Amino acid sequence: MDTPGTLTDITLQLVDLDETFELRRAVLRPWLTPAEAAATYAGAGEHFHVGALQGGPQGKRLVSTAGFMAEAQPDYAEDFGPEPWRLRGMASDPAVQGRGLGGRVLEFGIAELARRLAARGEDSAVVWCNGRTGAQTFYERHGFRPIGALFETPGTGPHYVFWRRVAARSSGGT
Ligand SMILES: CC(C)(COP(=O)(O)OP(=O)(O)OC[C@H]1O[C@@H](n2cnc3c(N)ncnc32)[C@H](O)[C@@H]1OP(=O)(O)O)[C@@H](O)C(=O)NCCC(=O)NCCS
Repeated sequence: MDTPGTLTDITLQLVDLDETFELRRAVLRPWLTPAEAAATYAGAGEHFHVGALQGGPQGKRLVSTAGFMAEAQPDYAEDFGPEPWRLRGMASDPAVQGRGLGGRVLEFGIAELARRLAARGEDSAVVWCNGRTGAQTFYERHGFRPIGALFETPGTGPHYVFWRRVAARSSGGT
């Protein structure tokens, strides 16, 4: 049973993009229809998604997720190098926010990216995101820093581009 500040029956794992749509839509852009939410990721290049599932044998529910996509950032191509990755769709169910799951999911995804970089023989890569200012301390706590000017995204308010470098690592977490 959960007690304040702790969560039980949590599994961190890779998840399919399709599994993430409803949580992302509900938390990030609830005004979209499910079809519009799914279309947001259409045409993405290489990508993988991670999540925290809560529950036991009777059923598990996705409660936090993050996506990583090979995607250039046109304004900072020189700063970010030739093959940066974009962090997208970082969202935790409001019922579990502020209890450490988003951070665990983000670090799990970064560790997965570090393994993928090592498998390709790459030393490191930049991960960037268009991050809401409301999540600034969250991103900074996980090694990201803002670059450039504040900008507005319709419907989702003020953002910065945040970025950090991820070193290749053949095993273990970050
Ligand atoms: C941003 C978001 C993904 C973070 O997910 P989360 O599950 O709440 O993440 P965490 O619990 O790991 O961290 C959130 C905060 O809770 C704090 N926290 C973590 N565990 C805690 C605990 N046991 N007790 C008290 N506070 C705790 C963290 O220190 C962190 O504080 P910070 O924001 O000052 O860094 C989530 O708040 C969210 O979905 N927000 C709405 C959508 C959004 O803004 N997404 C980002 C789009 S760019």
